[in-house]
Amino acid sequence: MKTGTMKVNTNGYLEIGGCDVVELAKQYGTPLYIFDEETVVKKAEEYTACLQELPDSEVIFAGKAFLTVGMCRLLDSLGLSLDVVSGGELYTALQAEFPAGRIYFHGNNKSSDELKMALQAGVGRIVVDNIQELNLVSNFAQEMGIRAKILLRVTPGVEAHTHSYIQTGQLDSKFGIGMQSEQALAVVQLADTLPGIDLRGVHCHIGSQIFDISCFDVAIDLMVQFLAQVLRNGIQLHELDLGGGLGVRHTIDDEPVSIAEFGDLLVTSVKQATNKYQIPVPKIMIEPGRSLVGEAGTTIYQVGAIKEIPGIRTYASVDGGMGDNPRVALYQAKYHVIAANKANKTADKIYTIAGKCCESGDMLVHDAPLPTLEAGDILAILSTGAYNYSMASNYNQLPRLAVVTVYKGSSDILVERETYADLVRLHSIPARWVTDSTVIK
Ligand code: LLP
Repeated sequence: MKTGTMKVNTNGYLEIGGCDVVELAKQYGTPLYIFDEETVVKKAEEYTACLQELPDSEVIFAGKAFLTVGMCRLLDSLGLSLDVVSGGELYTALQAEFPAGRIYFHGNNKSSDELKMALQAGVGRIVVDNIQELNLVSNFAQEMGIRAKILLRVTPGVEAHTHSYIQTGQLDSKFGIGMQSEQALAVVQLADTLPGIDLRGVHCHIGSQIFDISCFDVAIDLMVQFLAQVLRNGIQLHELDLGGGLGVRHTIDDEPVSIAEFGDLLVTSVKQATNKYQIPVPKIMIEPGRSLVGEAGTTIYQVGAIKEIPGIRTYASVDGGMGDNPRVALYQAKYHVIAANKANKTADKIYTIAGKCCESGDMLVHDAPLPTLEAGDILAILSTGAYNYSMASNYNQLPRLAVVTVYKGSSDILVERETYADLVRLHSIPARWVTDSTVIK
């Protein structure tokens, strides 16, 4: 398996974005996230092209998948909009001078400070999650003498899982306003009357890492039906945001749908549903996260201890783990691993790749066929571009990794590696615990 611009070079080493991975390990150290710029650019172009048949559309990158100041600049240059879910993500975008008008602010429990910050920055849309927030936004906007442009997040009752979906009757979700309970219509009507609110449309997000995309057809039908119901009640909404969710390949067994196929389904479903419910085609927004950056990311590690338990298992431990990739422990996610410095050698052994955290569950890949490994070998774990760096932690006081972007043979830092000093930068010792430089026992 390979992702993006990956290939094996004449040294027999793995190469990404024209850069030798073994050289990158020497230059920047390990563990290291490698970001394949060309792949992100290609995916962004595919996304922009895939909705072109619709009268109006917008592609919004879900920043929670991977957000840095540099990434915001790249997104801007690609003409993509940005979805943020916290004051911190919004701050990151603003630091990058990302155009505020193309920022969508999500979240099921935005604080008053976050809402004010978003309104002051002039974000494009606040995606309002509940009535309490609706009233807050209206009040803050009125105080500022503006009308906040918003979308309302509704839950259509379609819940997508990795390989299938269910339609849920009870709408048991912390996000959004239940559509089937008539609550959503009441909230739309309320929003329409509030002086600080300029209601533009509705939003839904039905799941993530979706392989069976027929659930989008069901969701679109329900959302368009809702827009038609709203219209019958005298309110015309012009925007429909369908969220993100398209799956990516983590292992050879995964067969994700292409962005083009996904776009075709969206376009067809939107046209069919608007025809069926007799409403004009609204502006369609989508919010891909994982499918834009997932396959563009590779994490490289150095092998340390190798432990063979005869007849049972061989563990190869690496210098990272659940701190940089919590997805294995959290979701039992599966990944593909390559020995970057033995990329053209035959896989003759089975290894379980373990992290270095003090926890038995800290594994990265189970039972992977690899060439015989030795300490010092460089392993590359593929498709770690989404929800890895953004979910990284300092568990065990491990410094967070550096991120480098590679493009046509050159590499640049996107995020520096944390230092030990960074780890204690915000710590402090209460004065009463210290006398004359001596800690009281
Ligand atoms: N829009 C909204 C409102 C979302 O909640 C999400 C993801 C997205 C867009 C982007 O979805 P994507 O295209 O990336 O599937 N930490 C989990 C994933 C959580 C996704 C949460 N929402 C993981 O590592 O799998």
